[in-house]
Amino acid sequence: MAETITADMVIHDVVAKYPATVKVFHGHGLPCTACAVGARESVSGGARTHHFSPEKLEILVKDLNAAANGEPTSITPKKAPVGRGVPLTMASSSPDRKIKNVIAVMSGKGGVGKSLVTGLLAVSLRRQGQQVGILDGDITGPSIARMFGTKGSPTKSAGGGIEPLRSKGGIKVVSMNMFLEKESDPVVWRGPMISSAIKQFYSDVEWGNLDYLLVDLPPGTSDAPMTVMQALPLDGVIIVSSPQMLATMIVMKCINMVQQMKGTIVGVVENMSYFQTPAGERFEIFGPSNGTELVSMTGAPLLGALPIDPALATLCDAGRVEEYYSEPYEELAADFVSTLKIQR
Ligand SMILES: Nc1ncnc2c1ncn2[C@@H]1O[C@H](COP(=O)(O)OP(=O)(O)O)[C@@H](O)[C@H]1O
Ligand SMILES: [Mg+2]
Repeated sequence: MAETITADMVIHDVVAKYPATVKVFHGHGLPCTACAVGARESVSGGARTHHFSPEKLEILVKDLNAAANGEPTSITPKKAPVGRGVPLTMASSSPDRKIKNVIAVMSGKGGVGKSLVTGLLAVSLRRQGQQVGILDGDITGPSIARMFGTKGSPTKSAGGGIEPLRSKGGIKVVSMNMFLEKESDPVVWRGPMISSAIKQFYSDVEWGNLDYLLVDLPPGTSDAPMTVMQALPLDGVIIVSSPQMLATMIVMKCINMVQQMKGTIVGVVENMSYFQTPAGERFEIFGPSNGTELVSMTGAPLLGALPIDPALATLCDAGRVEEYYSEPYEELAADFVSTLKIQR
């Protein structure tokens, strides 16, 4: 069939006319369809923004036409989530699962902003009216409770389980800090105990009905990520990276681990991508973005490139992360939700 979609067409118009093309845009790492601004660009403009080579653009246009005509594309269909391990006592595999989406946030390295991305993704999803919980799987270095300013210990629920704490905005939070006498007490546990704590945080906590349970993980590929991959009914993983991190190949180890364990990478997030001055000038402090490489390494879309914002650190330290609002994070949440819908 003759090509009906050309590179100079506006993304929004293409998607409106041929809904099947959304998958192709996302599969090629272009989340523009979900972005109010990006969708007004032409296909070639969107490709330029995401640093596509002319060859890649050509393949994209070919795939768009194939999808519009109901033909196969070069994008391999996403496998159904197979990271589901041993069902635990709650939720899990029953058709009327109380927790609709269990998503883990991982990265190979510490300090790249996993916890921050987890926290702010939860905040944005909550603003959209979703029921959200955060399971802080970083047992020895928990940071979620502090970010949200949730104080006190969780109580026993009517059903005999653990009642999670609630943030001011209504996000349910469970973190190891809540079980310590003093926040500064160290948790000196070995792997099996850490695994057991994570499992209990999932199965013994009365999460209730949730649209999203986000699991924040410690860095690396150790016991905690393994437990989450094997023992939780995981629907997908978000990989967080930063521009200079790719060079270290640590993020690759993490991606390989998820792939080896047959997990589904929902998307990648590049944090600390740039710093923007109040006048709007951008500086790529940690080097140029490598979002495109991340996309080709994972086959998953780039959900967002987030700026460095000094205001964030202050709000997080004060337990007021929910007061933060910034467009890139709202776009991240929108892209995340639409990507999950497409992958289903
Ligand atoms: N985009 C950002 N802008 C400003 N500060 C950030 C950003 N991302 C992370 N930080 C800060 O960097 C530190 C490490 O982030 P964190 O989310 O705890 O990393 P991780 O969980 O990967 O170890 C925190 O103090 C956090 O507030
Ligand atoms: Mg962390």
